[in-house]
Amino acid sequence: MSNRVKSVITGSGAALPERVITNNDLEKMVDTNDEWILSRTGIRERRKLEDGLSSVDLADRAAVEALEKAGLKAADIDMIIAATVTPDYPTPSTSCLLQARLGAFKAAAMDLSAGCTGFIYALAVGSQFISCGTYKNILVVGVEILSRVTDWDDRSTCVLFGDGAGAVVLQPATGDSGIVSFSLHSDGRGADLLKIPAGGSMIPASHESLQNKMHFIKMNGNEIFKFATRVVEDTLNQMMQKENITAADLDYLFLHQANLRIIDYIRKRLRMPEEKVPVNIDRYGNMSSATIPIALHEYIVKGAMKKGDLVAMVAFGAGLTWGGILMKW
Ligand code: ACO
Repeated sequence: MSNRVKSVITGSGAALPERVITNNDLEKMVDTNDEWILSRTGIRERRKLEDGLSSVDLADRAAVEALEKAGLKAADIDMIIAATVTPDYPTPSTSCLLQARLGAFKAAAMDLSAGCTGFIYALAVGSQFISCGTYKNILVVGVEILSRVTDWDDRSTCVLFGDGAGAVVLQPATGDSGIVSFSLHSDGRGADLLKIPAGGSMIPASHESLQNKMHFIKMNGNEIFKFATRVVEDTLNQMMQKENITAADLDYLFLHQANLRIIDYIRKRLRMPEEKVPVNIDRYGNMSSATIPIALHEYIVKGAMKKGDLVAMVAFGAGLTWGGILMKW
């Protein structure tokens, strides 16, 4: 990839619903408690989108901010990629709705479904269009309204998820900054470990599917936990070996925020200090493909990354999918 045009992030944005659901709120809804949720997941609170709003509303807010930071107008966007497992409709895509909302009428638009790895996949796909010279201005959004596919009577999942959107603008690099490499993977043999069983062509919506709560997320948490700890480390090692670097060379590592214990496990394995591995799961829960872009945006806003910093991002999720991006800031 070294001889090709690299992609840089020139703007970022985030949008979160105002409504906060604390662990104490959940204690009143299901048989759970703050101590269990905090010690098992690291989550203190999460956000829930108000009724009447949908993915495109949060995506729009995040995108407008990212475009403004990049100094671009909507009319400049060549392509919109929205990573989501909770689009507004099965069809048309949320990215098309976003294109219309923004007035980005030149832009090609598509959704990308890769579970919680969606944002990483979308960044990698966007960077390819820049590398080959096809496009110059690409808007990549990670947006999830998981509260709409959460069974609020199931304590094993309802404590975990939150709503949010993060967006970045990708443009061709002029210096040596930009995406250095990426690593994308999937294993469909694990499809049943994390799924929304109904609502697709396999089990279309019916009275029975509604009654059986088959439109909500079902997850084998223990298996996903084991899978996550294995693949995150493997992915990082692959990317680092390729570039002949070690974890000590990384300035920041943005991990998918699914469980603080997974983040801590990886951080300790790599012997990285806490300040280099951002955490926002305590405030927002698991927002699937929105967790990394929101964390990234928060660190960009506070000016954490300096030119030349090495930044890695790694995510994993339904599919199964997993993958990482290594970039020079
Ligand atoms: N409150 C209180 N008790 C609970 C709760 C709750 N909210 N949920 C489960 N329990 C109970 C269980 O019933 C079980 O009780 P038992 O021992 O009497 O049977 C006990 O707590 C332990 O349950 P486990 O499922 O073994 O708990 P674990 O420590 O594995 O934590 C968790 C569960 C948090 C889901 C963990 O497995 C996890 O985070 N897995 C990874 C999930 C993940 O990474 N998903 C990412 C992809 S999903 C996405 O991003 C969209």
